[in-house]
Formats: sequence, C-alpha cells, structure tokens
Amino acid sequence: MTGPIITRFRKLYGTDPEVIARAPGRIEFIGNHTDYNGGPVLGAAISREVWVALARRPGQPRRFSSGETGTVVSLPPDRVERASGSASWTNYSVGMLAVFAQMGLVVPAGFDLLTMADLPIGAGLSSSAALELASGLAFLEAAGQDLPRGDLVRAARRAENEFVGVPVGILDQAVSGFGRAGHLVHIDCRGPMFSTVPVPLGCALWIFNTHTKHALSDGLYARRHGECLEAARALGVTLLAEATQEGLASARPRMSEAAYRRARHIIGECARVAETVRLLGSGDLAGVGRLLCESHASSRDWFENSTPELDFLVESLAASPGVHGARLSGGGFGGAVMALASSGFGASEADRVAAAYAARFKSDPLLLRAETAEGASLILGLAGS
Ligand code: GLA
Repeated sequence: MTGPIITRFRKLYGTDPEVIARAPGRIEFIGNHTDYNGGPVLGAAISREVWVALARRPGQPRRFSSGETGTVVSLPPDRVERASGSASWTNYSVGMLAVFAQMGLVVPAGFDLLTMADLPIGAGLSSSAALELASGLAFLEAAGQDLPRGDLVRAARRAENEFVGVPVGILDQAVSGFGRAGHLVHIDCRGPMFSTVPVPLGCALWIFNTHTKHALSDGLYARRHGECLEAARALGVTLLAEATQEGLASARPRMSEAAYRRARHIIGECARVAETVRLLGSGDLAGVGRLLCESHASSRDWFENSTPELDFLVESLAASPGVHGARLSGGGFGGAVMALASSGFGASEADRVAAAYAARFKSDPLLLRAETAEGASLILGLAGS
C-alpha cells in the first residue's frame, strides 16, 4: 500500500508524506463483551489494515482525507472539534490528538493527512481502532515523540470512550496494537495485561460479514454496557469478571431480568476464554471449537446480541466438515461471524456457505480467509526509514 498512498497523497496535497503508519483490523476470537467487564479476551490482528500518511504544515489547518470519501476535511490547527455527518470518521484521528494533548504530549499543529485501507470499513473488523492506532503512531512520529505500546493502546481506547463517545472496552485497540503473526492476542482486561498465544499449526480463520448494521454507536452497545454495570452493582462487585455463577444465583431475586441474563453470559464467557487458552496450549482444537459454539449460543440466548443472519452463518459453518467451531465476532447486533477451521475447509466449502446465506437473505456475505498479522507499526519515519 505504500506506493498507492504516496501517489494519492501527492495528487491530493501536492507534496510527499513525511510519515506513514499502518495498523491492522482484528477478529474477536472468543470473549464476547468481557473486556469492559474486566474479563479475559482473545483476538487476532489480521492482514487487512488501515494506513495513515502525514506531512507537517506548521501554522496551517489540519487537513484530513480518506480513500473512502475522497473529500478533504479542514480543521483549525489550534483546537480539536468533534465532527458530525460525512466528516465524523475524522473523530477517530482527532480523538487521538485530544487525548495526547490531555496526556501532556506535544501534538502536531497543522498537517495534511490521508488514510487508505484494505480493511472493509464498518464490517465489524475494527477499522476505527486501526485508524486510531495508525493516526496515533503518525502523530507521535510527527512530533518526535514515542510512547510505550500499552500507553498508546490505552490512549486509543480513551479517544473512543471520551471523544467519539462509545463505551468500548480495550479489545480492538489492544489487538491492533499487540498483534503478532501466527498468534492470538490474550488480554486480561483488569490490568490490562497483554500477551500472545500461538495459533496451532494447520488452522485457518475465516470471516463472514453479513453487511447488516453494526450498531455500536446507536445505543445497543451502550445499553448492554449499562446492564452489565447494573448487574455488577447488584452482585456487589466492581466488575462482572469478579462474580461467580453461585453468587449470581443467590442475587437473582434482587436483579432485573436483563441484568441477570447479561451477567450469566459474562461469567460463563470469562470461564470459556480461560478454558480456550488451556485447550489451545494442548492442541485440542475440537475442544476449542466446542467452546466457540458455546460462546455464540450464550451471546444469542443470554446477551441477546445475535441476529438471524449471524445465527444462520454460525449454524451452517458449525455443520460444515473441517470447521472446528464458529461464533459471532465483535459487538454483535449484525456484523461478522468467524470460524476456526482445518485445511479440510477451503474456498469452495466457504463459497457453499456464502451461497446458502445469499439464497436465504438475498445478499452476499463478505468472505475473507484471514491471515494473522503484526500489530501497528511505523512504515516511514521523519528520518526517512
Ligand atoms: C466491540 C468493542 C470491544 C468489545 C466487543 C465485544 O468490538 O469495540 O471493546 O466490547 O465489541 O466483545
């Protein structure tokens, strides 16, 4: 992508970029909505990514353009403002400037910025977190600064929570920041603490995106977040990851039905993530696959964030030879399903599942065989490297 982004940057702004950074999208492997409940989660960075190219223009406006829209959004060099409508994609970048400034870091004043992606946007693969991470790295380099990776990841989550205004956990940013080829990123969200777990050899990760609405920002995600906090309060814990199924059973009479159901999912899901890590270590892929399917059933029945489209894909995939297991991946309420498969499940088998989906829902799912990838990095620095 370096060639195309430089060419486009020159055409758009009439100069070369000084800095280029990249950040990958992610799959949520298992751990649905555990992150903001202080639980564990496993994700994989994938080789579809977002690129950010930047050239400094001190004293001039901050100009933003994306390969998606092709238009240029111009903002003053001395303040950060939340954008709306067709310019709202800039909030993920501008949010990083806002958080960096609050952290006491120097932020570049005027600049030209262009972003391009081969990661489908709005497909439940965290293009927004990738844009935050790539923008953050570009801004740090442009101002001659560095930040430990954990701090960058936390800053990106803050940008999304405080500037964009969605109460997400740290999964997307951490996986985009700490991804490693051939590995899953394991996050213990209490610390948070980040580590990696090898993906067993011979496994493939498939993504089927339903193109149905991924409703993170229209309130359903925030409502689930609120119900989890309500459940934690009723259980007398700070975060649901500290609760047990026994404690939940005895607190049930004093909880709302919604709070009970959400807690039931989260407590079970935290245990499933821990068990998945153990089974990955012993190479028990059938066992991991079972846990993936159980995770989906729990999201569907207790967390109530699945949809008929996601359920159809999970059921079709789970019944396909060579698939160990499948589940919805990400916030839910639409979006994507991921499957863990052996080499016995290939492109023609995936096409069959996609065709059955298209026959039922009159729309083709987006189909990807995902390769795991390295976390966000700088491609071109001020020193020209
Ligand atoms: C979205 C959020 C994450 C996480 C998942 C659900 O991807 O951005 O923080 O909560 O949903 O597990």
